[in-house]
Amino acid sequence: MSMKQPLRVAVTGAAGNISYAMLFRIASGEMLGKDQPVILQLLEIAPALDALKGVVMELEDCAFPLLAGIVQTDDATVAFKDVDYALLVGSRPRGPGMERKDLLEANAAIFSAQGKALNDVASRDVKVLVVGNPANTNALIAQRNAPDLDPRNFTAMTRLDHNRAMAQLAGKTDSTVNDVKKMIIWGNHSSTQYPDLTACTVNGKPALDLVDRTWYEGTYIPEVQQRGAAIIKARGASSAASAANAAIAHMRTWALGTDENDWVSMGVYSNGEYGIAEGLIYSFPCTCTNGDWSIVDGVDVSSDFSKEKMAATEQELSEERDAVAHLLP
Ligand code: NAD
Ligand code: LMR
Repeated sequence: MSMKQPLRVAVTGAAGNISYAMLFRIASGEMLGKDQPVILQLLEIAPALDALKGVVMELEDCAFPLLAGIVQTDDATVAFKDVDYALLVGSRPRGPGMERKDLLEANAAIFSAQGKALNDVASRDVKVLVVGNPANTNALIAQRNAPDLDPRNFTAMTRLDHNRAMAQLAGKTDSTVNDVKKMIIWGNHSSTQYPDLTACTVNGKPALDLVDRTWYEGTYIPEVQQRGAAIIKARGASSAASAANAAIAHMRTWALGTDENDWVSMGVYSNGEYGIAEGLIYSFPCTCTNGDWSIVDGVDVSSDFSKEKMAATEQELSEERDAVAHLLP
């Protein structure tokens, strides 16, 4: 059996829907590897601590060999103490007819408080993934409230959009997701995101040679952009299992690396790459090695279509940033 030291993984909103689909998989080794013990440090608000107790009882009852400990608390400085990974899920989900940015007012304050707590007590190498919406701007708020941590440690989840875009393309081209490589989601986890097939291949062939341009612009892009809303309409609640799956995949890729000749989409700190304003948390194509991410260089974004779509989602992120200026030290 493994002799690795346990890693500490914080999950916020631990009694919520996404967490219920996520915690058991983290504890079974699907996120950090089948030889990596974990200590789960679970944060909830006080009224949900009873429900959290039930989740913890179920975690115990699984007798996971890799689960080396569980902390349950409503105090962020306890939940984040020495953590190596932090999955910030806890926040309000949207309902039918809302855009994710409509949640800014309800959720933004959570991420300034949690950014400060991470700054004070987390491992200096903590890898943070923000899932709670609007994810990119919440990640920006957390990052700016954690001045002692490297801004590269804060990321936002667009892996679900990336997976959605792969699955829709595989369906259309009668292939499987294994055949689809080099997908890109640019920008915000919102309806302005740009699912870009310019570099994408299916079975080694350029994706844009296999699909009709009208389908790409008029059906594919809007369907990927609106998939979250379609799930809310159909299910009466926002995506949970697929969101949990994407969060695990995002952290796993960051920790253990990308596949050869492929990349993933991650909302990461912009240093001005592809002309995107410095400091925004913008989704880029990324590769990961040795626990670090880097933005893929040299993707062709020269078409007017790409320029316009990338600028529109950047504009929305700038507006969201300006709307929470009071929370950005
Ligand atoms: P949920 O309502 O089922 O669970 C949220 C949990 O967070 C609740 O248990 C609540 O008590 C807890 N919580 C609220 N404030 C908290 C705080 N300050 N600290 C700790 N916990 C707190 O919601 P859900 O379905 O699990 O969704 C959670 C968030 O994830 C929502 O904002 C949703 O929109 C977002 N989401 C993002 C993506 C993505 O792709 N980025 C995908 C799906 C959902
Ligand atoms: C999603 O994309 O499924 C989530 O962000 C939930 C939502 O509000 O759409």
